[in-house]
Amino acid sequence: MAEFISKSVSDTEAVATKVAQRLQGGDWLALVGNLGAGKTVFVKGLARALGVSANLTSPTFVLLKAYDTGHKVIKKFVHVDCYRLDGKEDLMDIGLSDYLNQKDTVVVIEWADKIRGLPDKTIKINIDYRPDNQRKILVDNLNL
Ligand SMILES: Nc1ncnc2c1ncn2[C@@H]1O[C@H](COP(=O)(O)OP(=O)(O)O)[C@@H](O)[C@H]1O
Ligand SMILES: [Mg+2]
Repeated sequence: MAEFISKSVSDTEAVATKVAQRLQGGDWLALVGNLGAGKTVFVKGLARALGVSANLTSPTFVLLKAYDTGHKVIKKFVHVDCYRLDGKEDLMDIGLSDYLNQKDTVVVIEWADKIRGLPDKTIKINIDYRPDNQRKILVDNLNL
């Protein structure tokens, strides 16, 4: 488990860049944290570090969006936002099972606590809101 204290949006993006450098094709990331904690900021940082050139907008209504990257191994970046899900959906329900074992794809899930059946090796990112633009970011299941 690695712990970071972020004091700004750019600090959070820097942590995301560090994580991105360790990612492999097929990795899944589960982001958990309250509304406004900085999950989307983190996802945008990841996307930028992987060379996604499209403007990443939160897929609140469509649930998931897939982007092409500029990365040589990780070709696709899938962004999922489960905010509007009521409860415990499984991967099949939301069309995520198609992305299991896709060696050229990274899947990043906001509000991952609302879905069940994530792969055991899923990298867990917890962002805790702190006042004054501070956030505590915990990264589990990844060697940083
Ligand atoms: N250290 C920080 N890290 C990330 N976001 C921060 C930080 N300090 C302030 N913010 C602000 O908090 C908000 C985070 O929003 P967002 O990433 O959409 O949250 P979430 O996706 O978790 O609901 C943004 O308005 C951002 O500018
Ligand atoms: Mg968000």
